[in-house]
Amino acid sequence: MAKVISEDIGAYYYHHPRVAAIVTAQAKGRQNAMAVAWHTPISFSPPLYGIAVSPKRFTYQLIVQSKEFGVNFLPFEQAELVASVGGSKGEEIDKFRQFDIAQDRPVKTAVPILKAAYAAYECKLIDDKGYGDHRLLVGEVVAVHSLEEAFTPEGILDLAEVSPTLYLGNERYVTASRETIKYLDRKVYGKR
Ligand SMILES: Cc1cc2nc3c(=O)[nH]c(=O)nc-3n(C[C@H](O)[C@H](O)[C@H](O)COP(=O)(O)O)c2cc1C
Repeated sequence: MAKVISEDIGAYYYHHPRVAAIVTAQAKGRQNAMAVAWHTPISFSPPLYGIAVSPKRFTYQLIVQSKEFGVNFLPFEQAELVASVGGSKGEEIDKFRQFDIAQDRPVKTAVPILKAAYAAYECKLIDDKGYGDHRLLVGEVVAVHSLEEAFTPEGILDLAEVSPTLYLGNERYVTASRETIKYLDRKVYGKR
């Protein structure tokens, strides 16, 4: 098997599956939701979460105006919703009405929280910096909504209960199953 080395970088971000999430925002009476694959925890204390959002997105305008955003994690059965909010523009339609998206009440912000999410974060925007064609929006997580039965006592996702929505790229979605879990204790493996 030959490896190819290329300086023509292309869609490098398709080289690993990513969790597909839905970012929500509201401002001045408008609510919106968009799909994101580029997002990451950044800090444990304080709890910070980063999302890479193009300034062309309607969601970006709402986040800048309200200084808040939500990050919602949907089960694989709801992957179509990720594709729906990722394939439509909040400038043109009310996605909550069009896709019949049910909401839970936020507690520390006014961001929409999706009822179908097995976990969702309410974030207060603390930084907004441009990197290339995207903005890295960093939020402090001020409230976490999570479905109790979706998590094991150690707090990891219980794959017997929930299948996460992963994005392979090029409109392909996939999930993870319990049978593929490997338990590799780093304390043991770090000494081998
Ligand atoms: C699976 C998936 C992942 C996406 N990830 C991102 C992302 O991380 N950042 C981004 O700016 N756009 C991303 N998009 C594109 C936006 O979701 C899309 O442009 C959406 O229509 C923006 O909606 P808005 O204009 O209403 O904000 C993604 C789309 C899909 C389908």
